[in-house]
Amino acid sequence: MENIIEAYTGLTTEGKKSRTPARYDKLLTATGVILALFMMGHMLFVSTILLGKDVMYKVTKLFELDFLFEGGLPVVVSVIVAIISFIFIIHALLGLRKFPTSYKTYIKVREHSKIMKHPDTSMWMFQWISGLIMVFAASIHLYIMFTQPQNIGPYASADRVVGQHMWLLYAILLICVEIHGSVGLYRAAMKWGWFDGDNPKETRKKLFNVKKALSAFFLALGVITLLAYIKIGIDHSSMAGTKYSPKDNLTIEISKN
Ligand code: HEM
Repeated sequence: MENIIEAYTGLTTEGKKSRTPARYDKLLTATGVILALFMMGHMLFVSTILLGKDVMYKVTKLFELDFLFEGGLPVVVSVIVAIISFIFIIHALLGLRKFPTSYKTYIKVREHSKIMKHPDTSMWMFQWISGLIMVFAASIHLYIMFTQPQNIGPYASADRVVGQHMWLLYAILLICVEIHGSVGLYRAAMKWGWFDGDNPKETRKKLFNVKKALSAFFLALGVITLLAYIKIGIDHSSMAGTKYSPKDNLTIEISKN
C-alpha cells in the first residue's frame, strides 16, 4: 500500500517527498537514449543493402562474428536481440506509467493541450500513441529476429519483407520509431536542460530544427531501404527461401564478361 501511495503522489507515508518518480524518469530517459542511438545504428546497418547485396551480407556476417567463428554464429544476434528487448521492455513499462489511466484523464489532457496550443504537449500525446503501437509491432519483429537470426541477409530479409508481408509492419514501425525517437531525444534534452547554454529559448528553436532534420533523414533513408528490400524480394520470389552467397555476384560478373 505504501508503495502505491508513493507511486501516485510522490510522497512517502512519513510525508517526505519520494525520489522514486524522479529516478524512474531518469531511467526512462536513459533507456530511451540507448534505444534511440541503437535505432540510428540499426537503420544504417539495414540500409547497407543500398550499397549492394555483398555489403549487407558482409555486415550481417560481421555481427555473427565470422572473423572469430568460421561461417559466423547467428546466436550472437539472438543475444543482441535479447539485450535490446530487455531495454525495450523496461522503457515501455516506465513509459506506460505516463499513460492516462482513464478516458476522463485522457480528455482532460487533450483539452489542456488544445487550450495551451503548445506543440511540445501535442508531441507528448504522439509519444504515447506511437509508443503503444510499437509495443505490439516491435515485439513481433524482435521475436522473429530472436528466433530466426540465421535468416538475416540480402535474400532472406527481402523474402521476409515480401513473402511474409513484413513490409506493412515495417512501414508502420518506421513512421512510429523515427518520429518517436527524435521527439524523445528532443524532449529529453529540453527536460534535463542538456544544451540550455546562455539562451535556452534559442537552444529550443535550434534543437527543434535538429529534431526535424533527424526525423526527415531517417524516415527518407528508411523508405528508400524498404523499397530496395521490396524490389529484391519481388525479383527473388521464384527462388524464395534460398540464401544469398557472395558467389552469386561472382557468377553474374563472370557471365557479364
Ligand atoms: C537487436 C534487435 C534488432 C535486430 C537484430 C533487427 C534487425 C533487422 C533487420 C535484419 C531488418 C531488415 C529486414 C528483415 O530482415 O526482416 C530490420 C528492419 C527493420 N527494423 Fe529491426 N532489428 C532490431 C530491432 C528493431 C527495433 C527495436 C525496431 C523498432 C522499434 C526495429 C524496426 C525496424 C524497421 C522499421 C525495419 C524496416 C527498415 C526499413 O527497411 O526501412 N528493429 N531489422
